[in-house]
Amino acid sequence: MEKKKKPRSLKEALEGKLSKKEREKLITSFDSIGDIAVIQIHEDLQKKAKLIGDALLSTNKQFKTVCMVSGEHKGKYRVQPVKVIAGKKTLKASYRESGCLFSVYLGKVFFSPRLSTERMRISQLIKENEIIGAFFAGVGPFPIVFTRLSQMKKAYAVELNPEAYKGLLHNIGLNKCQNKVEPILGDVKKVVPKMLLEKCDRVVMPLPKGGENFLKEAMMALKSEGGIVHFYRFVEREKGVGQPLKEIKEAAKELGMKTRVLRKKKVRSFSASKEQVVIDFWGKKI
Ligand SMILES: C[S@@+](CC[C@H](N)C(=O)[O-])C[C@H]1O[C@@H](n2cnc3c(N)ncnc32)[C@H](O)[C@@H]1O
Repeated sequence: MEKKKKPRSLKEALEGKLSKKEREKLITSFDSIGDIAVIQIHEDLQKKAKLIGDALLSTNKQFKTVCMVSGEHKGKYRVQPVKVIAGKKTLKASYRESGCLFSVYLGKVFFSPRLSTERMRISQLIKENEIIGAFFAGVGPFPIVFTRLSQMKKAYAVELNPEAYKGLLHNIGLNKCQNKVEPILGDVKKVVPKMLLEKCDRVVMPLPKGGENFLKEAMMALKSEGGIVHFYRFVEREKGVGQPLKEIKEAAKELGMKTRVLRKKKVRSFSASKEQVVIDFWGKKI
């Protein structure tokens, strides 16, 4: 008897189960957050969500659960609603990156594996004994990966969402970096003037939607001898980085600082018209 071949892709696993028209609407890319796959499903295919989820489980043995995205990232905590469509009914993922372990409660906190290359890139730029301002820290991927891949002295990890802060505390414990990462629950706008003025050699700002409103706080946190900011932002692809460069200049002018752009680059495509960019700049009080 001929042995049934195991499907090699999601499309293959759904052959004969979806019509040709439905297969054309199938989005085959997905995010892997450890043992949980997060997939987008076209609105015309939502009734087939379980079928699609089961097919994904059958082709990828690493997953125990498949979730579908059920809305946009929303609110100031930037949380994306998701729901389980197949496998074990859990939203608690266990994720590994650069030798670090993270526990992530999907649907309650922001998390994206897509900035892992950026975390590595910045780790390589950090010099021995640097003090880092890890703004918008979420459950801690930036400061915790820095602990592992750089020789920084310390990172202040500032996060506003109490649920993400809880995850941050947990992940600091999991990775045994209590002596290197100081978690701070609060709003960057209030925390910087109270605790972080002129404390940092480097500040990371992974808040691509709205981060421009915190540029002054990032610059105020830089040491008086100067420091570096990594500023993430969504831009219209056609317009490029003109707007964020203008925002940096304006914030510097208000604070009486001089700045120099060190690098500007695309991080990833976000939508048909938008992309995420990062601008690395140096700044110092005049
Ligand atoms: C886009 S997420 C990035 C999270 C994390 N750095 C990562 O890469 O997974 C932005 C985070 O900033 C937090 N946040 C938003 N506004 C904030 C503020 N004013 N002060 C501190 N944290 C804030 C949100 O709760 C969210 O966890």
